[in-house]
Amino acid sequence: MAKQDDLFKNIVSHAKEYGYIFPSSEIYDGLSAVYDYAQNGVELKKNIREYWWKAMVQMHENIVGIDAAILMHPTTWKASGHVDAFNDPLIDNKDSKKRYRADVLIEDYAEKINQKAQKEIEKARARFGEAFNEQEFVTTNARVVEYLAKKKEILERMARSLETENLADVKALIEELEIADPETGSKNWTDVKQFNLMFGTKLGASAESAMDLYLRPETAQGIFVNFLNVQKSGRMKVPFGIAQTGKAFRNEIVARQFIFRMREFEQMEMQFFVKPGEEMQWYKYWKTTRLNWHLSLGLGKENYRFHDHEKLAHYANAAADIEFNFPFGFKELEGIHSRTDFDLKAHEKHSGRKLQYFDPETNQNYVPYVVETSVGLDRMFLAVFSNSLKEETLEDGSVRTVLRLPAVLAPTKAAVLPLIKRDGLPELAQEIIEDLKWDFNVAYDEKDAVGRRYRRQDALGTPFCITVDHQSLEDKTVTIRHRDSMKQDRVKVSELKDIINQEVSMRTWLQKI
Ligand code: GAP
Repeated sequence: MAKQDDLFKNIVSHAKEYGYIFPSSEIYDGLSAVYDYAQNGVELKKNIREYWWKAMVQMHENIVGIDAAILMHPTTWKASGHVDAFNDPLIDNKDSKKRYRADVLIEDYAEKINQKAQKEIEKARARFGEAFNEQEFVTTNARVVEYLAKKKEILERMARSLETENLADVKALIEELEIADPETGSKNWTDVKQFNLMFGTKLGASAESAMDLYLRPETAQGIFVNFLNVQKSGRMKVPFGIAQTGKAFRNEIVARQFIFRMREFEQMEMQFFVKPGEEMQWYKYWKTTRLNWHLSLGLGKENYRFHDHEKLAHYANAAADIEFNFPFGFKELEGIHSRTDFDLKAHEKHSGRKLQYFDPETNQNYVPYVVETSVGLDRMFLAVFSNSLKEETLEDGSVRTVLRLPAVLAPTKAAVLPLIKRDGLPELAQEIIEDLKWDFNVAYDEKDAVGRRYRRQDALGTPFCITVDHQSLEDKTVTIRHRDSMKQDRVKVSELKDIINQEVSMRTWLQKI
């Protein structure tokens, strides 16, 4: 655990030191769970967004994009169910005055029991070697059976109590399990209360006429309310999709783990409108297609898994998460939900307008079903960034820090480095930059010995370093160094654009999907 914490601290400090992410308003000691993207972070984030947009909108003839406003008519949130049901159960510790999500306290407790079971399994695996049969062991070893049954019983009781709004039983469970405040050890708890996660704000100049609004907690509703506008103006035929990226806001009770759970974050969502009855086939299609999109970035197949929901929200008839192996374990990265006709029907009811599709083949109107894909841009950023940061021991025993970002997403594609600061080398380096900057983000660096400059670019995640030396003046060749292999090739200046393009172009990467 300590090792995991160190790794995570290292990621956070690297993000700050190399201009990726800063705490918000840091000179005032920051604002909890709010972060600013710095000069390199904003480029990485923009590239992830573009990679998603191209894959979803540009590569699908039947998907178009919109950019709806963050502020929406307040009835939107009544219709969507967010006013009544977008709650988390919170509990306060009376001694420490710290606030927690009651369900997270219980889940963490259950996870500790699970860890005990996993430890027994690993011990047995080491003892029995190749002959080990895990399936048999987990169903016959008394201790493991007991641990797993206890975990199941706790989680099932919690789910039942939350579903029936029996918050007294959620508190009783915390007390029976003797769950203590993780920071102070105190077991002096208040009752459990429901807490709505939407941020409220006001529209209007005077207090009397002001209208209560919410900052949107998801981008999806901007798509639902525009369904018919897009369908008619774009002459879209079902099945078709509407995609959107943008900010969402949630007043998370416990926001932690850096940019994993923030109060202001960005989503990349797509609602796919289908004929009722065809939703399961599209749900499967989007599960596979979205997983392939993630895999195309090369972060390792073993780092992804599906978590199919057994307990479904009242509006869904299927739902799954794509989980990623973050530095603190497997957690949700993206959700894929078959949302039936719940949202469109709810907006029809609350607005009094018809939100139906006229099917020209059958001459009938119907409310389409929706399959949604929803991924957090900041979570994608964390997945990519944390997976890429490596400490490598080289052949000479020295250690290099390298950010092995997928080249397509790297903020800067190449750094141009004159070997020394005179003899016309800086001028030639600038000439190269003048040419390359039309196609790529490129940087210039002339400070320090070239070896140190290479290391700095490695830590920044720049895929290529181009070094200009005296030979370059004579024959217009340079060395190009590859970040990951550290291999250097002598190439013509005129070849640089093609070499870089081959490695960084979205086309090359998207073709892997
Ligand atoms: N429209 C569906 C929806 O909003 P969700 O599971 O609540 O579903 C979708 O959110 C995705 O948004 C999540 O998988 C996650 O990547 C991201 N997300 C949700 N809450 C977040 C938060 N507080 N901070 C960062 N990302 C968040």
